[in-house]
Amino acid sequence: MDKIIIEGGKRLSGVVPISGAKNSALTLLPCALLTDEPLTLRNLPRLADIDGFQHLLNQFGISTTIAGSRPEDFGRVMTLAATRITSSVAPYELVRKMRASILVLGPMLARMGEATVSLPGGCAIGNRPIDLHLKALEALGAQIELAAGYVRAIAPDGGLPGGRYSFPGVSGGATENAVMAAVLAKGKSTLHNAAREPEIVDLCKLLTAMGAQIEGIGTSDLVIHGVPRLHGATYRVMSDRIEAGSYACAAAITGGEVTLKHAVIEEMEATVQALRDAGVTVEPRPDGIYIAADGPLRAATISTAPYPGFATDMQAQLMALLCRAEGASVLTETIFENRYMHVPELNRMGAHIETKGRTAIVHGVPKLTGAEVMATDLRASMSLVIAGLAAEGETQVHRLYHLDRGYERLEEKLALVGAQVERVGED
Ligand code: UD1
Repeated sequence: MDKIIIEGGKRLSGVVPISGAKNSALTLLPCALLTDEPLTLRNLPRLADIDGFQHLLNQFGISTTIAGSRPEDFGRVMTLAATRITSSVAPYELVRKMRASILVLGPMLARMGEATVSLPGGCAIGNRPIDLHLKALEALGAQIELAAGYVRAIAPDGGLPGGRYSFPGVSGGATENAVMAAVLAKGKSTLHNAAREPEIVDLCKLLTAMGAQIEGIGTSDLVIHGVPRLHGATYRVMSDRIEAGSYACAAAITGGEVTLKHAVIEEMEATVQALRDAGVTVEPRPDGIYIAADGPLRAATISTAPYPGFATDMQAQLMALLCRAEGASVLTETIFENRYMHVPELNRMGAHIETKGRTAIVHGVPKLTGAEVMATDLRASMSLVIAGLAAEGETQVHRLYHLDRGYERLEEKLALVGAQVERVGED
């Protein structure tokens, strides 16, 4: 298990290349199940979660080949071919490690007429049920059975008929599963109150490139006309708006100035607004976003909400930034019930944060101090790195595998803009 050691206090400056989006890649990869022709995905981030998903797809008999990208390049190109599917079961030992495995349920059901996926169970940031995934698939005509910790979805003979579903709450994953199931249905499907994250737009664009017929892309009402088959495609994964936002916080907390290359400002407006509220300069550039923090940071009031609201996946990183703002900030987490695990660790670094239920009050402090810290999830770990970049002295963030799940070569990117960071193995 590796850890990262940060010598704080270095002002970040330069260009950070932003990778392909993890959360988009994890919904584009299972689209390979929807066709017997090759699907080529470009700009796939090199992340542990992507390797895990590739492994899962290999278990189904899907072949995956990686085209010769140079080690020094970020991202890679993967071609997936589900010419023949040999298994429709996603086993516990793989799903347990990666919740996104549930995203094979919809496409596998659509292609094979059945799918069996281990129930993912809870995770560090909360309970995370999948009831909406199952209800949406039922509405499209699937029969759902739960037994022995597995969910089995079965389509009627001849395939899913399609149908209408109105999501009682906004869910990215459930929307993705429903869309991937509906594209090969016999009839029309209508999804109301669908999630409209950029990653779902990315999914719909790929499916359209594969021959799917989807109306209302980017809105909360999607109409999908099922087609008998989809064909192969070559597609570039969108940029990671959460990675971009994380590096924006990292630069800002050091009083730095960076350009986030490939980041798309229109896809992260709530984050941009929050950064500006905190006194950070954010400007669009032809192929990226310019970030500068030359004045004092200001307190802000932010509540997480489904897209286009402020992303729960940015809450921890923004909180780290606000630890150094003047005044008291108020953050409210409305999406997940247990997403303040970074708070005690940030407080150990000299932050002054109080939580009460879903609300956190961040009293700005004049300085943070380095410490040994550990977090239990991906974004929480990143918030500790951000705090460490501004802290006096050395910070060690243990359990780097959380960060490897979602940040491509974090220490290299930070070093590119002048951070003093080192990755070391630990027993
Ligand atoms: C996705 C992201 C994750 C992000 C989250 C919220 C991926 C791989 N992951 O997760 O990084 O933190 O969106 O933006 O893209 N819910 C239910 N029942 C369901 C499904 C969800 O009650 O069947 C609830 C969840 O508990 C949560 C809310 O809906 O409170 C939103 O979850 P959802 O959008 O589904 O998150 P994921 O797609 O799992």
